[in-house]
Formats: sequence, C-alpha cells, structure tokens
Amino acid sequence: MAVREILRMGHPLLKAVAKPVQEFNTPELQALITDMRETMLANFGAGLAAPQIGVSLRVVIFAIQQNPRYPEVEAIPETILINPEIIPQADSVETGWEGCLSLPGLRGVVPRYQHIRYRGFDMQGAPIDRIVTEFHARVVQHEVDHLDGILYPQRMTDMSQFGFEQALFPLREELTV
Ligand code: NI
Repeated sequence: MAVREILRMGHPLLKAVAKPVQEFNTPELQALITDMRETMLANFGAGLAAPQIGVSLRVVIFAIQQNPRYPEVEAIPETILINPEIIPQADSVETGWEGCLSLPGLRGVVPRYQHIRYRGFDMQGAPIDRIVTEFHARVVQHEVDHLDGILYPQRMTDMSQFGFEQALFPLREELTV
C-alpha cells in the first residue's frame, strides 16, 4: 500500500478509455483502492480515478468532508465507484470551478449537468444507484470523464477562465478533484 505518483496531463494513460473491472472483491482490486485512497488523501484531493495512478480500469473514488471554510460545499460520503454510468436527469447545465490532481496548480470553469443519476458497483460488487445535484454531481462527472480519457480543459467553453490558482485566487484554497 502506498501513495502513488499521479500522472500529469499529456500522459497517454490519461487519454485512454479505461477497461471495465471484471472481478470484484479481489486482493488486487482492494490494493488498488487502498492506494487510490492514500494517494487522494495525501494530495488533499476530493476525488481520484485509477488511470491517474497508471491503472487503466474503470474505478474512481471521491469524498468531501464538511468544511467550515467551504460552507457552500456539501459533504459527500467516501464512495468507491466501479464501472460507472451517468444518466443526466435534466438538460440544465451549470458552470463551476474545477481543479485536477493531474493538472496541479491550475483551475478552470467547466459546464456540467446540474442533476444526474449515477450507477455502478462498490468494491464487493454491490450496486450503487444515486440521484445527486450540484457539487456532488460535478465531482462524479469529473471523475467518470477520467475513465474516458477526458480531462476538464476538454470540457471548457471559455478558455479565458483557465489559469493558475495562485493568480486566480490569491487569497483562498480550492478543492481539487
Ligand atoms: Ni481529476
């Protein structure tokens, strides 16, 4: 178990379509998830996808703790989501700032569906099926994009709202997914 190196934008594995997990509840899958959790926490991330640590499988992890410094951000229970599927529940899209551990120091405004249903499986293969909105929906869409080789700048529609965090927000820290 280890904190793993996070691949950065430009690496071919971040552009690849990851493969579905075929077998659940295996020692290999457990080890991968432990490494993903440790790597996410060590980097203060809100989420991480397996391809970011060089494993091209459809596995993501995300978690947001309630933080008094970001009262507008809802808590999200730690979720391991395997072989996910996203079903938008409405056409409405909202924009919001995103960052990514594969683009350290950068932020951009990204349009995302405001209201989604997502489905997938946990580590044991038990189904997960949730309807979520707002930041939770944004985090899931960001992470699932990683499994299809898409990084958030590819979703941006206004590149004037892309830049370095320290220049954009000199006074505050932002969440990174
Ligand atoms: Ni990311």
